[in-house]
Amino acid sequence: MNVHDSEQIQTLLSEAGYKTADGMETSDLVILNTCSIREKAAQKVFSELGRIGKIKSKNKKMIVGLCGCLAQQLGEKFHHKFDFLDFVVGTHNIHLLPDIVSSIEKKRDKITKIEFYNDLHSLGIYAKPKKGTITAFVSIMQGCDNFCAYCVVPYLRGPEMSRPPQDIIEEVKKLADDGIREITLLGQNVNSYGKTLKDGIDFPGLIKKISKIPGIERIRFTTSHPRDLSPSLIQCFGDEEKLCQHIHLPVQSGSDRILALMNRGYTIKEYREKVEQLRRVSPNISISSDIIVGFPGETQKDYQETIDMMEKIRFDLTFSFKYSDREGTAANLLKNKVDEREKLRRLQALQELQNRHTYEKNASLVGSTQKILVEAFSKNSDRDVSGRTSSWKIVNFRGDQGLWGKMVDVKITKAYLHSLRGELIEQQGGYES
Ligand code: 5AD
Ligand code: SF4
Repeated sequence: MNVHDSEQIQTLLSEAGYKTADGMETSDLVILNTCSIREKAAQKVFSELGRIGKIKSKNKKMIVGLCGCLAQQLGEKFHHKFDFLDFVVGTHNIHLLPDIVSSIEKKRDKITKIEFYNDLHSLGIYAKPKKGTITAFVSIMQGCDNFCAYCVVPYLRGPEMSRPPQDIIEEVKKLADDGIREITLLGQNVNSYGKTLKDGIDFPGLIKKISKIPGIERIRFTTSHPRDLSPSLIQCFGDEEKLCQHIHLPVQSGSDRILALMNRGYTIKEYREKVEQLRRVSPNISISSDIIVGFPGETQKDYQETIDMMEKIRFDLTFSFKYSDREGTAANLLKNKVDEREKLRRLQALQELQNRHTYEKNASLVGSTQKILVEAFSKNSDRDVSGRTSSWKIVNFRGDQGLWGKMVDVKITKAYLHSLRGELIEQQGGYES
């Protein structure tokens, strides 16, 4: 989500005449786009601001601004703490950035904009892809109404609101014209897409419409709330050829007691039934998840239930976190906080288990042929190109820039923890772009 916000900010400011600088020291304008989902992310912002402050003391003309969730959360307070800051702009106000920057250029005034609006201003900003980019994000909704007990998002991004399908389709068409072949539809809970619209469209309906857009070869989405994963969305994985065989389905915990305290709205039995339905419709679907360890009151027994659940489900990948207290959330008020060292112990053991599962899943693909949409050179060598399987696994193989944007067959030859190695299967007559 934040990466996409940054792309939008970049587009807006390049339209206002700004170009990307080589480094902060030589910049006229520095914007820090912030996240506040966990304490660690917030701490990073404070230390980065310390660094920026030192640079600004040598370059007084530089404009420094803060955007994103932490800006939304602390607003004016940032100006008191960091007097070199020129502006603080919250999650609903990105569209105002060109005006804000231009006003500061003229008057050097201090600006804070953190109002919420009852519309979708910021979602409609077209983030123009850089030349040669193959994949792009498209926001389909903003905000969240779920109020999971640990989460600040509903407070910092406002109520859930869906974007009209015509706007989304127009944006995807434009992206296709600009060379994009794969899009990821973004929302905090894409399964409830359409609920705030009057025209009766739901998320599977939106996927079907987007599937018809020429040039777009792959569709992904994130994130799905397990409670709202409908049979018709599950069926899309069987019916919609362009929909990639991967779902990110955050489970958060394997204990029903903790899930109830988290206000997640499902039990582990219900979650596992959804996973079974997904695997029935699409036997090769990859499933990734988010897990929090050490939620207030999580006992060793609750934690063991999470481990048992992982052994049974066998995720392809999980993003796991130590519970982090966030001001204003329901969980912040709960007693029985788990000791930091114990949280770390639980996290490390869980991550070791997940690494084993991820490697086993990757290894099971060795010898298979996978369709890869080539995205760029590989990170480690310009003699290799890199792309992803439909199941979202990174594959590197020998190839040149001519392959970028092409869908090719690759035989998987080796598995690692974070990627796969493969060999291009040459096709007679070349590849269609
Ligand atoms: N502490 C730890 N992890 C959190 N997440 C969200 N809020 C918190 C928190 N307070 C995790 C959840 C969510 C992911 C994006 O971040 O697992 O799915
Ligand atoms: Fe946060 Fe829950 Fe909304 Fe996800 S669904 S953004 S975890 S409140």
